[in-house]
Amino acid sequence: MDCRKPFDLHLLLLLLLFAYSSNAIFKFTSCNGQQVTVGGCLRQERTALLAFKQGLVDPSARLSSWGGNNCCSWRGIECDNKTGNLEPYSMTTEQLDAYKLSCLGGQLNSSLLQLDHLTHLDLSLNDFEGLQIPEFLGEFKHLRYLNLSYASFAGLVPPHLGNLSTLHYLDIYADSGMEIENPSWLSGLSSLKHLNLGFVTIHSSDAKWLHAVNMIPSLLELYCHGCELQDMAVTLPFVNFSSLSVLDLSQNLFNSSFPEWLSTLTSLTRLDLSTNSFSGSIAVDFGKFESLEDLHLSLNNFSGPVPVTLGNLCYLRKLGLASGRFSGDISGLLNSFTGCQTVSLEMLNLNSNDLVGELPSIGNLSALEVLYLHSNKMNGSIPESFGRLSELRDLNLIANSWQGVITEAHLMKLTRLESLMLSSSSLVFKVDPQWIPPFRLDYLQLEDCTVGPPFSTWLQVQNRLTQVKLQNVGISDTIPKEWFSELSAEILVMDLSENQIRGELPEELVSPKLEMLDLSSNRFEGFLPRWSTNATQFYIHENSLSGPIPRDIGTLMPRLRNLHLSDNTLNGTIPLSICKMADLQVLSLRNNYLSGEIPSSMGLLRSLGMLLLSENNLVGEIPSSLQNCSALTSIDLGENQLSGEIPSWLAENLSATFVLRLRSNQFHGQIPEALCNLPLLHFLDLSHNNLSGGIPKCLDNLTAIVYGNSSELYYRDFQFRMAYFKEETKVVTKGRAYDYNRNLALLNVIDFSENNLSGPIPEEMTKLLSLRVLNLSSNHISGAIPEKIGDLKVLETLDLSHNQLSGEIPATLSSLTFLTHLIVSYNNFSGKIPAGRQLQTFDASSYQGNPFLCGFPSRVKCPTESITTTAPPTTGTEPEDEEDEIFELGTGLYVSIVLGFGFGFLGLCVTLLRKEFRKKDIEW
Ligand SMILES: *[C@@H]1O[C@H](CO)[C@@H](O)[C@H](O)[C@H]1NC(C)=O
Ligand SMILES: *[C@@H]1O[C@H](CO)[C@@H](O)[C@H](O)[C@H]1NC(C)=O
Ligand SMILES: *[C@@H]1O[C@H](CO)[C@@H](O)[C@H](O)[C@H]1NC(C)=O
Ligand SMILES: *[C@@H]1O[C@H](CO)[C@@H](O)[C@H](O)[C@H]1NC(C)=O
Ligand SMILES: *[C@@H]1O[C@H](CO)[C@@H](O)[C@H](O)[C@H]1NC(C)=O
Ligand SMILES: *[C@@H]1O[C@H](CO)[C@@H](O)[C@H](O)[C@H]1NC(C)=O
Ligand SMILES: *[C@@H]1O[C@H](CO)[C@@H](O)[C@H](O)[C@H]1NC(C)=O
Repeated sequence: MDCRKPFDLHLLLLLLLFAYSSNAIFKFTSCNGQQVTVGGCLRQERTALLAFKQGLVDPSARLSSWGGNNCCSWRGIECDNKTGNLEPYSMTTEQLDAYKLSCLGGQLNSSLLQLDHLTHLDLSLNDFEGLQIPEFLGEFKHLRYLNLSYASFAGLVPPHLGNLSTLHYLDIYADSGMEIENPSWLSGLSSLKHLNLGFVTIHSSDAKWLHAVNMIPSLLELYCHGCELQDMAVTLPFVNFSSLSVLDLSQNLFNSSFPEWLSTLTSLTRLDLSTNSFSGSIAVDFGKFESLEDLHLSLNNFSGPVPVTLGNLCYLRKLGLASGRFSGDISGLLNSFTGCQTVSLEMLNLNSNDLVGELPSIGNLSALEVLYLHSNKMNGSIPESFGRLSELRDLNLIANSWQGVITEAHLMKLTRLESLMLSSSSLVFKVDPQWIPPFRLDYLQLEDCTVGPPFSTWLQVQNRLTQVKLQNVGISDTIPKEWFSELSAEILVMDLSENQIRGELPEELVSPKLEMLDLSSNRFEGFLPRWSTNATQFYIHENSLSGPIPRDIGTLMPRLRNLHLSDNTLNGTIPLSICKMADLQVLSLRNNYLSGEIPSSMGLLRSLGMLLLSENNLVGEIPSSLQNCSALTSIDLGENQLSGEIPSWLAENLSATFVLRLRSNQFHGQIPEALCNLPLLHFLDLSHNNLSGGIPKCLDNLTAIVYGNSSELYYRDFQFRMAYFKEETKVVTKGRAYDYNRNLALLNVIDFSENNLSGPIPEEMTKLLSLRVLNLSSNHISGAIPEKIGDLKVLETLDLSHNQLSGEIPATLSSLTFLTHLIVSYNNFSGKIPAGRQLQTFDASSYQGNPFLCGFPSRVKCPTESITTTAPPTTGTEPEDEEDEIFELGTGLYVSIVLGFGFGFLGLCVTLLRKEFRKKDIEW
């Protein structure tokens, strides 16, 4: 039995129900002798309660005190002289857990109706396991308070509740599915002050829900959040519930403009329309809402300027207009607050809009605690008046175009600052390196601005940080070892990547709370520290660390999922203890000096998705135990001294593989046909080995390269990869190494170059319609280029040089408009290079070493034609110059496509990282 509980751990009472019998009634009944009261409780009431108890399931005997005569002393029952406001009972976490196990459930017996004078019924925080709210609850004559929230009621809410005309409070907040079929009955609750229908699905048309609640003149608080409402009346003929103080319509599906009738609710203290699809600009004069304290319109499509009249609301404490399409600048709004004697504003949240302009002086917002302006298009410098916001706790200005400097003056009075988030490449911290600030931050995120070169004192005194990100902030200094050690006890996330931080890291650290550490792209030297943590992510690639990987790394960091140690100068063997990281998903040890064999115990890593061991000195065969790592999607063992045959179990057992890179090793034997059974494989690099035999005919079984992004399977897998991995691999095209970091996901590559392969190019290869790079150079391949090569419409690189190919170059090649690298040199091609634009854009050297090949751009003239007639007709410049230009252009295009995608992905990565870099959001 999963007993629901409220989110707030400090939540209230255990009290189950209040029976209310007035003294007057006791007297009356005892006088006429029909009913006997003993110890202040009517027998009839007692019997009714006992019948009620019988229907209930009470696993922990919470109702064990229900015996004896005085039911006023039974647990959960309160009689008249003690009613009124009970003190909320706040539970500790342990109590709440215990409570969860002790929830009441079962049936509700209508015997309760015999408690004639019941005024207060609270069944909240129990578990009735999907029971429908019983209809009889609508028959109480004197009920003023009915709370059925967090009690796992489900199904239709009976319209009978509409008979409760004496009710003041109705709370049926749904923690499991509840529905109201026709909300008209709500109008019968004529005395209601407080109505909470949160997360009850209300089926309504023509704004029936609104017309019904508008009939309740006494209504003060209305909560209809998450009710799946979509019908909103923009105008109302008359507004009856005009005393309304709290209106929460958040998390619905409204898509109208700002409802005009709202402007008559001038008693509102709190209005929440957030998380809907309201749109249009807001023309209301907010000056009328004199009592408004809390206005929450975030996560809508409101556009136009932020209403300046909001600045007349001196009592406004919270203003949330985030994640909309508000535009213009906010100086008008902030300036209008100057009319207030004191400004109450504590929270201003305008993040993720289209706001422009500079930030005006805001020193008069003296109560401001939280300011979020991130993800806008604001610019200019940050005013020094910031320094006067002595209540400020939480500041996020990330992702704008700030300029200028931040000095001590900006930070001097911010004694309460806990969270500081700033970024902008034109922003410079000009703070005295010795200055000691008045705040101790919990959360610090500075990105892409200039904070260094020194690791200033104001940073080093921050010894309470739980999350710190100082990424690409120009720090070029030695690491303050003490600061580092001091933080290790409490730190959750630390990202100091992309700086020039140098020096040795503390030898041993214990970080019990650490989740993510990123020290990549710095200049750390010395040994890799022995770090004892339960972190899941550890990035320390691109540094100058040397010596061995600690032998017990697997015991020290048993929970790691991502371990990135690439691009250092680590030596020694791969520690066997890595196999103890049972959840390891990415192991990147690329570009180090690791030697020895790949430990066969790696087969124990059942979650391993990426194994990146390239550019080391590893020897031996690929351990057959790797076939147990069935989650492997990316295998990069290139640039080592591995030997043996390419195992066919690779394909038989690792069907999720999409990257297989074994280049520059000493593998021999044939290319196993089984590789064709990898439906997701789109990057296959077996170049620079001693492979012999023919090219498999079955390559057209590589569905990922046939269908590319249009294959649904591939697409889904692709998304998964994008989300999960920070992938890094190098691709070599035309002798140049491109770092394909994250865009590898999109590249379809087959590279078999520099082997001893013989036989023809199989016709089947022309079915690999999404192939972008094909390199078969430096083999003994013979025969003609298949005529249908022109079907490979997205081919960018084709290198067939240094083989024994013969025949004419197919004319279809000239239709490949993306082709930017073509090399067919040193073969036996003959005849004329096909005319048309594409094949003429390449350098003559692309064709050389084919004595019988003629025509532009080859230097050999064809017998019947001159060079000029085949030259491209476009320009009057020298053909040679133009070639170069086009070549350059071609390269540029290629690179920019890749970059374009890469940027997109980077964006995603950053978002993901941001997620990891958790921000505790203010709850409202
Ligand atoms: C309420 O009444 C009960 C008996 O009916 C008595 O024991 C108790 O003391 C009274 N409490 C108060 C606060 O008067
Ligand atoms: C309510 O309780 C009475 C007395 O125990 C019992 O007879 C009756 O069946 C119960 N009704 C329901 C609906 O459980
Ligand atoms: C109903 O009960 C819940 C849980 O005990 C409580 O949080 C809520 O405030 C109550 N509602 C009213 C209107 O008192
Ligand atoms: C209570 O409401 C229901 C449905 O709205 C109705 O059918 C019923 O007659 C009402 N009962 C009383 C006692 O008013
Ligand atoms: C990691 O978690 C385990 C089990 O929860 C705990 O015993 C161990 O002390 C933790 N390690 C560190 C370094 O906190
Ligand atoms: C690893 O490199 C260090 C120098 O950084 C050297 O002293 C040591 O002998 C090397 N160890 C191995 C096993 O190559
Ligand atoms: C190619 O795929 C087909 C259909 O999925 C399959 O029957 C065949 O065995 C595969 N060929 C090879 C060589 O893997």
